Amino acid sequence: MLVPPRRPLKTERLVLRPTTARDAGRAFEIQSDWQVTRMLRMAAFPPDPLATEAWFSDHEREWLAGEACRFAVDIEGRMVGLVDIDGIAGGTGELGYWFEQAAWGSGYASEAARATIRFAFEEIGLSVLKSGHAEDNPASGRILVKLGFRHLDIVERFSRPRGENIRQCRYVLSAAGE
Ligand SMILES: CC(C)(COP(=O)(O)OP(=O)(O)OC[C@H]1O[C@@H](n2cnc3c(N)ncnc32)[C@H](O)[C@@H]1OP(=O)(O)O)[C@@H](O)C(=O)NCCC(=O)NCCS
Repeated sequence: MLVPPRRPLKTERLVLRPTTARDAGRAFEIQSDWQVTRMLRMAAFPPDPLATEAWFSDHEREWLAGEACRFAVDIEGRMVGLVDIDGIAGGTGELGYWFEQAAWGSGYASEAARATIRFAFEEIGLSVLKSGHAEDNPASGRILVKLGFRHLDIVERFSRPRGENIRQCRYVLSAAGE
């Protein structure tokens, strides 16, 4: 496994750039929307500005330690979401993403996730990516299937924002495409 340089990735419509502490304010705004945060299993709701800032302030260290690579997704210089690979260990990592509601429905999450998957396999050198979504989040499932992920199983997991167990659909994608 490699620690790639912290550099932006460009897609047709988006710029994905490594996150910094300066992104915490926009992230706080986006995660203040229940429709966004209810789908994020580990996120607090309402979000806490200091905790959000502390989290973003740690992203450069995480990246350089080979633990997680996180990208702010920009359209014309404005952050509309985030896509990341975290839990990097032993050749595997987990793909995650979230976008502000105003940006939904235009294919941005698929476009950002596709570029991040390529980065994970080709530049970090991962051999397997995992991902998952709440059972009541079919849009996320559609993205994963479209990008080649294979449905693995459904497990009960605790959702921090909802404060109760949810059914989580888990997926896997290998670099070999199996
Ligand atoms: C899930 C989320 C990332 C999708 O972002 P997006 O930019 O709208 O996604 P895309 O447009 O790239 O793709 C969504 C796909 O789901 C489909 N879709 C949307 N709503 C759907 C629904 N209710 N049922 C089935 N498919 C649905 C879309 O048609 C599209 O598929 P297509 O390209 O084949 O038409 C966004 O809604 C979000 O940030 N939600 C809150 C946070 C979240 O859920 N993060 C993921 C946690 S697992």
